[in-house]
Amino acid sequence: MSKTPNKNWRPATTLVHGGTLRSQYGEMSEAIYLTQGFTYDSSEAAEARFKGENDGYIYARYGSPTNDMFEKRMCALEGAEEARATASGMAAVSAALLCQLKAGDHIVAARALFGSCRWVVETLAPRYGIECTLVDGRDLANWEKAIKPNTKVFFLESPTNPTLEIIDIAGVARLANQIGARVVVDNVFATPLFQKPLELGAHVVVYSATKHIDGQGRSLAGVILSDKEWVTEHLQDYYRHTGPAMSPFTAWTLIKGLETLPIRVKQQTENAGRIADFLAEQKQVAKVIYPGRKDHPQADLIAKQMTGGSTLICFEMKGGKEAAFKLQNALDIVTISNNLGDTRSIITHPATTTHKNLTDEARAELGISAGTVRLSAGIEDTQDLIEDFAQALSQISA
Ligand SMILES: Cc1ncc(COP(=O)(O)O)c(C=O)c1O
Repeated sequence: MSKTPNKNWRPATTLVHGGTLRSQYGEMSEAIYLTQGFTYDSSEAAEARFKGENDGYIYARYGSPTNDMFEKRMCALEGAEEARATASGMAAVSAALLCQLKAGDHIVAARALFGSCRWVVETLAPRYGIECTLVDGRDLANWEKAIKPNTKVFFLESPTNPTLEIIDIAGVARLANQIGARVVVDNVFATPLFQKPLELGAHVVVYSATKHIDGQGRSLAGVILSDKEWVTEHLQDYYRHTGPAMSPFTAWTLIKGLETLPIRVKQQTENAGRIADFLAEQKQVAKVIYPGRKDHPQADLIAKQMTGGSTLICFEMKGGKEAAFKLQNALDIVTISNNLGDTRSIITHPATTTHKNLTDEARAELGISAGTVRLSAGIEDTQDLIEDFAQALSQISA
């Protein structure tokens, strides 16, 4: 028995009930269908299934019931018609781009991209004859200037990793529509709760579900969302035949993750906002960038396209790398790692980890200095986190 998400449900309800597919046993918690494939009652039934004349499953690389529940719940949340679950966020990004491009095409991408995404567009795509132009995505004029007759895809993330720049998704979509190109948005930093790229005019949305969607450090996962037409025309065959499919066990952990997503993101955002305000007043901190603060340089655009701040903060330590390392090492609750969106607060030094492969010049363009630190706020008690920062900062002279 399948539970079709009701269009009037608000996100918190959709994320508990949407897409549930109950077996004949009426299990309360969603079942894990950990199977590679499916059987047929007769040769004729197998033939009909392969011809697409009935709706059943064929092979887990194409689709399977637990993955289906995750995909349907994501569609209901995102306002998408179709979704495909992938084994990682990068599998989602690369599939979403490559499935619709061919040699001779051109991508325009924001230069502020997660390192692996930047490698896909800057290094991998050209090997297959796909050109790429990277732009400072904050200014729409740069997107327009980069357009060529063969531009097929615009690719961006907003807010960006790690400096939390904002890109005008509706503006980029308007430009894309003028030339019949498509906009692919990596919506990881905004979460599906705070920003709806499809409503803003984007054509495809991707997530690293490793981040907030699982949010508990258990799974590596991704998802691609769009309309039925795009999935049928571009993604379906690519997905079936190149094999980025998610394991059903992972899909189950994500279904469980989605149930608590609004509660976790609310607490993480509240913690991030309070810590950002605290850090902004500390003498050891040169600058705080947080989309929920009025002093964010793009506060007007944030108000237009996002409905919440962020679970992430970017800040700069006055003493450069030495001070940033000292701070990270002195924190007790906050853990040094490179994931984000987790229930645990995580601190990262981008210049020596996530963005170490960029040249010094490319890092400077993105606003990443030796003192830049990224914090992903967890769900711990706000006061405990602030006290942790206070004791760590007290060990660092201004
Ligand atoms: C913005 C963004 N996109 C994509 C990815 C890739 O996701 P995954 O690690 O699940 O492959 C990440 C991972 O950190 C990310 O931050």
